[in-house]
Amino acid sequence: MYNRAQEFEAAGKIMALTETDTSMLTRIVERHGSDATELVQILRDVQSAFRHIPGQAMDLLANALGIERAQVQAVTEFYTFFSTEPRGRYDILISDSITDHMLGSREIAAYLFDKLGVQPGQTRPDGQVSVDFTSCTGMCEQGPAGLVNGLTITRLTRERVDRIVDLVNAGTPVAQWPREFFRVNDNVHRADLILKTDLKRGSALKWSNTRGAASTLEEIEKSGLRGRGGAGFSTGMKWKFCREAKAGPDDGTSARYVVCNADEGEPGTFKDRVLLQSHADKVFEGMTLCGRVIGARQGYLYLRGEYLYLLEHLNRVLEQRRANGLLGASILGEAGYDFDIEVRIGAGAYICGEESALIESLEGKRGVPRNRPPYPVTNGFRNKPTVVNNVETFAAAALIGLKGGAWFAAAGTEKSKGTKILSIAGDCAKPGIYEYPFGTLIRKILNDCGAKDTFGLQIGGPSGVFIADTEFDRVLGFEDLPTGGSFMIFDRSRDVLEIVRNFTHFFAHESCGFCTPCRVGTSLLRNQLDKICAGHGAKGDLQELSHIAKLIKAASHCGLGQTAANPILSTLERYPEIYEERLKVKTFEPGFDLDGALEVARRMAGRDDAHAHLEQEAAL
Ligand SMILES: Cc1cc2nc3c(=O)[nH]c(=O)nc-3n(C[C@H](O)[C@H](O)[C@H](O)COP(=O)(O)O)c2cc1C
Ligand code: SF4
Repeated sequence: MYNRAQEFEAAGKIMALTETDTSMLTRIVERHGSDATELVQILRDVQSAFRHIPGQAMDLLANALGIERAQVQAVTEFYTFFSTEPRGRYDILISDSITDHMLGSREIAAYLFDKLGVQPGQTRPDGQVSVDFTSCTGMCEQGPAGLVNGLTITRLTRERVDRIVDLVNAGTPVAQWPREFFRVNDNVHRADLILKTDLKRGSALKWSNTRGAASTLEEIEKSGLRGRGGAGFSTGMKWKFCREAKAGPDDGTSARYVVCNADEGEPGTFKDRVLLQSHADKVFEGMTLCGRVIGARQGYLYLRGEYLYLLEHLNRVLEQRRANGLLGASILGEAGYDFDIEVRIGAGAYICGEESALIESLEGKRGVPRNRPPYPVTNGFRNKPTVVNNVETFAAAALIGLKGGAWFAAAGTEKSKGTKILSIAGDCAKPGIYEYPFGTLIRKILNDCGAKDTFGLQIGGPSGVFIADTEFDRVLGFEDLPTGGSFMIFDRSRDVLEIVRNFTHFFAHESCGFCTPCRVGTSLLRNQLDKICAGHGAKGDLQELSHIAKLIKAASHCGLGQTAANPILSTLERYPEIYEERLKVKTFEPGFDLDGALEVARRMAGRDDAHAHLEQEAAL
């Protein structure tokens, strides 16, 4: 691998690019067709070659791609996996999900950092290694987990850390590290319609070719399939809207697009990882079927950066499908049925799971959610009609293509047809993947995975809902408990406030910063909760917490901000006493309204406080 990071490190950022650097950068740009929509992919390659994005490289990239340097810089600064300072030759990130914490990640990380002699967020002075924490890496049932130079490592123990430290200090290339460090298991414990039904490669497409696009769409509609990414929008309706949307002028690319959302960033969710690893053909077949229905020639699978280890496998499956005539020109010999799929990879930003932010990222920009309407079905990738669906949605669609809508609709409930794949982690004997028909009781799921002495569970990830032990007769489904698939179990030994604190830190870290209620509000929530957890909170702080939480929910631009306060609101409602117990024993209840008294002076001086600022934003 080309690597000049150390010299850059020694010389600082002013070091000029050499001819070799320049030709390396030019080659990277050319490999991506000098296409500015590939900026995120290009920056990934630059980061990998130089271990950072040198300032001079930004100038060169801007020139070569015909975009502003400010755009290159803004994109560089947006994504966690890009850095303007050289990272270590070994870049180690430890997953900071609550489920990793429960498996001892914090202690393991402290041991690792100590043995390597480097602090989180820093690079060791010899440039050999840098370490930090990162948001959930999707290995919740086989943690503590992390990433080494972007590749997933699982089941970290002290013994494994000792070996890693030796490998780092000896300079052993990651490719020569023991394979078992990188082993990722599927851990499927219950399979149903999607995981159990075999799909012979191409069989759903053959069926669709015989019946035609309109009839294929009818079956999808008949199945009652709703999106598995969380929001649960009707898949048939989404495909229909896109099919009927005006395509716009033909610019030589695709008139419409299919996008598979494989960003899977919600902490506690890892079922898409398993589908991509062991059922990739179902996912690609579903995307190709969708391409036929809506009239698209191009599809993209947007893979979260943390799943880099899956990239080679996915590209191999795509190659096989091309070789089998299931992708490319005239699929299965049908003239005009042209469709191909490319995998594009993210760079560490949870917000890029939000469909419009994902499209921005696919276009090489910062992942900032768009204003909606217009929706992607009319104005999506490159402003063309675009279907964005979750990985599981496409896998289900492929099987519906093969077996028919009625087959799928026979399982589940009236408003929630079919099955749902859950990622179960936390306090249970058998964490892993479980597929259930909608309508299944939460109590049964807990029983099946061996959960004991359960205090409560977080359904749908931090943005979902926390349910108490009095609610286990509730059911899985859009009528009661919808979920993208995350199911985190907590027993009575756990500290609820620590869980909520972890989720709140996650949102403050992942807020894209575009709108003030979320940018400022998530930080205020984090600080307020830290204060309460540290035992410094007074009664007024609880009211303040609840006030800010409601404000963020009501005033934020997108789903991240609108749900960021859910963990606080749902636990405050169920367990107010847990918060109250954590307050200072003796609190000073002011008999005098200091804030009110300062109001006049503030107005006269034209000064504002954080609250007033938030409220003003909310009113806009
Ligand atoms: C902050 C945020 C993160 C999201 N992350 C994901 C994700 O990782 N995967 C996903 O499929 N949908 C995610 N979504 C939902 C998508 O915006 C979108 O609804 C979904 O991809 C549509 O596919 P579906 O209809 O098949 O569910 C997220 C939404 C928000 C607001
Ligand atoms: S709500 Fe948060 S994540 Fe969404 S646009 Fe606003 S700042 Fe960005």
